[in-house]
Amino acid sequence: MTEFVRVCLLGEVPMRGAKRVEVDGVPIAIVRTDEGVFAIKDVCSHADVPLSEGEVEGCAIECWLHGSQFDLRTGAPRTLPAVSAVPVYEVRVAGDADDAFIEVATAATVVTPASAAP
Ligand code: FES
Repeated sequence: MTEFVRVCLLGEVPMRGAKRVEVDGVPIAIVRTDEGVFAIKDVCSHADVPLSEGEVEGCAIECWLHGSQFDLRTGAPRTLPAVSAVPVYEVRVAGDADDAFIEVATAATVVTPASAAP
């Protein structure tokens, strides 16, 4: 059974933006989009820089250093130079609208190559 931990209030994450949190010592970017809230490891797979400082475009986040975009559903890179996926985590939003909080799975989602295809 998937374990979840509460990481922050929904209102702490800017719309079409990201907030860095830590779960069991792992940095995770909580990303709010028009399509929902996502969680992706806050480390680009191309170099050790935080994705949470990048731009959110649709259901992707763009690394600020060299511009690779990562799909927030799968973690797969959509553009070079990154070629490896970044782990993604299941997210739950719980509570009332004014006081909703975000919970993140403690283990990354296993994404198969077929489901990671664009
Ligand atoms: S460090 Fe992220 S694309 Fe290069």
